[in-house]
Amino acid sequence: MTERPAVTIDNLSRHFDSFKAVDGISLEVTSGETFGFLGANGAGKTTTIRMLCGLLAPTSGSGTVAGFDIYRQAEEIKKSIGYMSQKFSLYPDLTGKENLSFYGAAYGMNGSSIASRTEELAERLDLHDFIDRPTRSLPVGWRQRLALGVSLLHRPRILFLDEPTSGVDPVFRRKFWKILYELAEEGVTVFVTTHYMDEAEYCGRISIMHQGKIVEVGQPFELIQKHRAENLEELFINLINGREAANAEA
Ligand SMILES: Nc1ncnc2c1ncn2[C@@H]1O[C@H](COP(=O)(O)OP(=O)(O)OP(=O)(O)O)[C@@H](O)[C@H]1O
Ligand SMILES: [Mg+2]
Repeated sequence: MTERPAVTIDNLSRHFDSFKAVDGISLEVTSGETFGFLGANGAGKTTTIRMLCGLLAPTSGSGTVAGFDIYRQAEEIKKSIGYMSQKFSLYPDLTGKENLSFYGAAYGMNGSSIASRTEELAERLDLHDFIDRPTRSLPVGWRQRLALGVSLLHRPRILFLDEPTSGVDPVFRRKFWKILYELAEEGVTVFVTTHYMDEAEYCGRISIMHQGKIVEVGQPFELIQKHRAENLEELFINLINGREAANAEA
């Protein structure tokens, strides 16, 4: 049986006036893949994710998430995915538990399923020590784990994580990725952006984006070999610098 693609993107663009934030990108992500959506600052990663999550209308092109059309079926998409936005999305005055309850209700879950799912996630993501504290008082690593918990409440099969470990220390980052690995083993598709190249190495495939375009796609090791780079960081820097130099000459 061939796996159904989790995400398809075909010639997708988003312009802001005359500025091409996303400029005709195409990509396919298979169900169960851990896909690293990398790129320079301002490359268009968040803009792309927002279009895929049904939060921003594309200018042109097409795309599907979980088989649903990003133009016409945004509501079905929202039910099928978990999304951790780049900006912290939890309510600071509410405790972890209260945040989970709030979002659970927003997903249409009833009180008892919210309670049992909260317990399950607290166990799995190791939230017990801080779940009763207002999220404002939590260190970033804990908050991000809680935000991951919120995104998993309704058992989505596809996760969009926009820089989930930004500002998180190496120990917490490792723990966070251990959880992502476990989810991937259960068949959850993880579509993740990161600026940490050690994390990019954990991904089955990555793409590298610059100024609205996808410059490269492939398995990390295969791309390192192809470009004769020492490691992913060197590959990333060379590709981005190469594009900058080409732009300067043009
Ligand atoms: N609503 C908007 N109006 C105008 N320009 C926007 C808007 N949203 C994004 N942009 C611009 O589009 C470009 C791409 O932004 P985006 O946030 O998608 O980049 P990114 O790849 O996520 O960057 P980062 O790694 O810094 O998060 C940026 O130049 C940004 O300023
Ligand atoms: Mg971004």
